[in-house]
Amino acid sequence: MSTNNIWTHKGTFLLAAVGSAVGLGNLWRFPYLAGENGGGAFLLIYIVTLCIVGVPILIAEILLGRSSRRSPIMGMRFLSRTHNASRAWESIGWLSAAAALIILSFYSVIAGWALHYTWRMLTGALANADAELASSSFQSLLASPSLLTLYHTLFIAASGLIVGLGVHRGIENGLRLMMPALLAILVVILAYSVMHGNMPAAVDFLLTLQLSDLSFEGWLAAMGQSFFTLSLGMGALMAYGAYMPGEISLSRTALAIVVIDTVVALIAGLAIFALVFGASLDPAEGPGLMFITLPLAFVEMPGGSLVGAVFFILVLGAAISSAISMIEPVAAFLVERFDLTRAQSVTAMVIASWTLGLLTVFSFNVWSSDSPFHDLLGINAFQLMELLTHILMPLGGLMVALFAGWALTHGEIMKELRTSEGWLHTWRFLVRFISPAAVAFVFLRAIPQIDG
Ligand code: PFF
Ligand code: NA
Repeated sequence: MSTNNIWTHKGTFLLAAVGSAVGLGNLWRFPYLAGENGGGAFLLIYIVTLCIVGVPILIAEILLGRSSRRSPIMGMRFLSRTHNASRAWESIGWLSAAAALIILSFYSVIAGWALHYTWRMLTGALANADAELASSSFQSLLASPSLLTLYHTLFIAASGLIVGLGVHRGIENGLRLMMPALLAILVVILAYSVMHGNMPAAVDFLLTLQLSDLSFEGWLAAMGQSFFTLSLGMGALMAYGAYMPGEISLSRTALAIVVIDTVVALIAGLAIFALVFGASLDPAEGPGLMFITLPLAFVEMPGGSLVGAVFFILVLGAAISSAISMIEPVAAFLVERFDLTRAQSVTAMVIASWTLGLLTVFSFNVWSSDSPFHDLLGINAFQLMELLTHILMPLGGLMVALFAGWALTHGEIMKELRTSEGWLHTWRFLVRFISPAAVAFVFLRAIPQIDG
């Protein structure tokens, strides 16, 4: 059974894909990774990686979705059958479903922090906070399993509700409402940071290139980030691509997604560092950058509590539009495969992911230093989830590239891509050789580092 859902409007696929792409990866992860890995040097490797790995695999993934018109698992089953390819390719679908379940489980916990901070900003709980208070307030949030579970539950339930309402009534309508509002907030935050922060210092920090800062660790981080930020290797864009009308240019849309995602990450990075430098704070806080340093910067500035609250609403909205793209592929599969209703499928996916998310919740408190995972692997559950993410996403992406590059016929690709012969050959060369080689290389080089 193939899906008979098609996005109602021509622009909806782009809207949905941008909604999926733009999220915690841009607002929370990119700025601190860039900060940790030498600013301009990181940006340079990141952009190169996007061009040779990100864009080609993004195109491949949407293409597989649109040409199969099914959810990722059923779609790969269908495509491997019609191409006389091994059924092993179906594992692309299974891998991506596993990745979706795992990523959603911790994504929801972290997005829950933004819910907490929206609230704290609105109530002015952090007004007049100093560095110590900001840090201890974050620590006490992490120390509370019940608070973390509460926010995690609220966030994942809201995301599930949108998907449960259906492709048109829930996802499409939700995004058409949310995305323009998010864009407006981003512009407000940028303007505010230019007015009240130190933008020249942020530009200097984020964009100045020092070749000595280029490093293999930087490349590793850039590779992981390009998969995460573009929602690759997870079936999200394959599922959305299945609803994409046939006449829309796939290559142009893919390019637009990457450009918008990168611009949003840059704007977020510049705005955050401008505020952080404006308040003379430390840019190298790592993952705590958004939750410790940034709130401090806000409360030092005029109207900062309100603007801070608006900022965390942006984070929440961006995270929800990403979370729904993790639920959709698995829910669509359950509907197609087991004839469940949409509500049943979404509930099953959300409950499974919610339960797994409790491991992340506990890894910040009751299991922070000793847990079943520590004994086994030496890392906590949250670190294990992150590690699995950084294995599953590139692995899924690698297989997507190989299948699209080697199993699909030239005619099919022509039909879907309809770009010039030159571009077509470039893309095919990239997905056949360059992207898989780059992923494999980084993987192999990374293994000894995990051990060490
Ligand atoms: N691209 C999202 C972000 O940058 O926050 C994260 C994400 C969404 C990853 C959807 C995977 C996915 F399927
Ligand atoms: Na992103």
